[in-house]
Amino acid sequence: MSEGNSTAGGNTEGRRLAELAKRRGFFFQSSGAYGGVAGFYTYGPQGATLKTNLEEAWRDRFVTREGHMEIDAPDVMPEAVFEASGHLDTFDDMIVECPACDATHRADHLIEDATDIEEAESMANEAAMEVIADHEVGCPSCGEPLADEPVDNFNLMFGTNIGPGDAAPGYLRPETAQGIFVEFPQLAEYARNQLPFGVAQVGKAYRNEISPRKSLVRVREFTQAELEHFVDPETDEPPLERVADVELPLYAAAAQQREEGTAVEMTVQEAVNEGVIESEWVAFYLGLAAGWYDRVGVDMDRFRYRQHLPGELSHYASDCWDAESEVDGDWVEVTGFAYRGDYDLTNHAAHSGEDYDIFKQYDEPVTVERPTVDPDMSELGPTFGGEAEAVAEALADLAGRNPDAFEGNTVTVEVDGGERTVPVEQTGFAVEEVTEAGERVTPHVVEPSFGVGRLVYTVLAHAYETDVVDGEERTYLSLPSALAPTTVGVFPLMDRDGLGDRAREVATQLREAGLAVTYDDSGAIGRRYRRQDEVGTPFCVTVDYDTLGEGDSPDLAGTVTVRERDTTSQRRVAVEELSETLQSLRRGDIGFGDLG
Ligand code: ATP
Ligand code: GLY
Repeated sequence: MSEGNSTAGGNTEGRRLAELAKRRGFFFQSSGAYGGVAGFYTYGPQGATLKTNLEEAWRDRFVTREGHMEIDAPDVMPEAVFEASGHLDTFDDMIVECPACDATHRADHLIEDATDIEEAESMANEAAMEVIADHEVGCPSCGEPLADEPVDNFNLMFGTNIGPGDAAPGYLRPETAQGIFVEFPQLAEYARNQLPFGVAQVGKAYRNEISPRKSLVRVREFTQAELEHFVDPETDEPPLERVADVELPLYAAAAQQREEGTAVEMTVQEAVNEGVIESEWVAFYLGLAAGWYDRVGVDMDRFRYRQHLPGELSHYASDCWDAESEVDGDWVEVTGFAYRGDYDLTNHAAHSGEDYDIFKQYDEPVTVERPTVDPDMSELGPTFGGEAEAVAEALADLAGRNPDAFEGNTVTVEVDGGERTVPVEQTGFAVEEVTEAGERVTPHVVEPSFGVGRLVYTVLAHAYETDVVDGEERTYLSLPSALAPTTVGVFPLMDRDGLGDRAREVATQLREAGLAVTYDDSGAIGRRYRRQDEVGTPFCVTVDYDTLGEGDSPDLAGTVTVRERDTTSQRRVAVEELSETLQSLRRGDIGFGDLG
């Protein structure tokens, strides 16, 4: 879990973003009337639309264009799910409590802030206590020394009761992924039991974070966009050629452990060839996602992929790379790309007793030799008494694993930690020839897990620009047109002489064409431009006297001024071509300069 790793001081970027976000309706702390609750944010009208547009862009790239399925599972799930998934036992952060003011803090974050240690999360609790003492770390709230205060594990899940009473405990899901894993048997049916297939979900996840901070970056309720791609580990390969030449800034675990180690640029293919990224599936998704981040407005000069250090890996992952964006000199994890292997499906199978395998049909049936046993229970019973069944089961297991063990006169198996020896003639050992139509496979899982709120935060921070226009400082959000909450602001030069009526007609026409439009006739035209600039509206349309055919240039009748946000340049466009032109600009089919 990385968020520290400060590369420069200050938090100017975060502060001015929070101020703009609240003033212009992107996001603000929830329940302010009751003092606010840490870790809960409301997206205002601009933010909710931006978030929806980002989610749609994610769906388009990672679900529709890849041919995957999407589901929508409940937020509350029964305790058994999280016993099986391992979250009940291991989904913990390190907590330390101040003896003076009772404030609670994440011990690993305190250590990262006070020392050069970059990933304190992988430390043991005792080691964390020692570092806190050695560096005389104090409570950030009141300054009291925290030396000798215990560092404990704190489970991050929000618990609840399902129905009245406490007989059926449940939890708010800490990751959307479990809603997919639990339903795997059903979902495999929908995929006609054909691997590979992917299942996506965009929904809420909940974590009772010890110390929420940095507005949307660490909250207690957030939206994840997750894809669980189920693959046959033996035979399925990703279409690596599609992304082979994509350049990735990779900060591998080995580089992090070296002094002076930094991220290095290499192509996806080079990273795989050189063994920097072990899993080709993970490499494929890092390549696919890099192009997407760029398109949705992440500044790729402020971006890297960082591999998890061994002690940092989640309980389910064998390898993981985080996509990290830089904001205010800190690296923020926006996505985790994990190779989860068969961890989840195997555990749900073991805990539920259901079948979480896929039956994989061969092209042609194959004949194989199958070792079997048929123990003589009239001999095993008197010899092993109540253990006879267990001995028979152990013999069957051994025959499957190691048929050579039955070559001598006796065979030895382990039952309840002790060795039991059986004459081979009593085991009924035989090797049969059987024809098989297919085999059972437990799929492996590759998981890109995107945090939507952290992406909203990054995209806004990276879009934030200032310049000087007409001698005045201007703030604008250089959002990609397809993501901007409003595509076009429509203004009459003034609300009189029929200009307002004509501008309202234009706004209606654009809305009917499916564009997101804001109509504004209040204040000076320059102020109206600034308001739209601050919420990232890429185009503004002004209706003036020329539009009505009452200006100095009769040839401009029936045209409006279209102004581009970033350059503030303007062009005249005929009203009858306006919606088509703006749609093409929004999709990026044409650039503003193409308007002539
Ligand atoms: P961190 O180290 O920052 O706590 P994590 O490693 O626990 O993050 P994951 O468990 O990999 O994060 O979750 C997948 C994604 O969900 C993250 O990449 C992030 O974008 C998002 N996410 C996780 N926790 C939070 C949170 N508390 N607030 C907002 N987004 C979160
Ligand atoms: N699904 C990855 C995570 O949230 O931990």
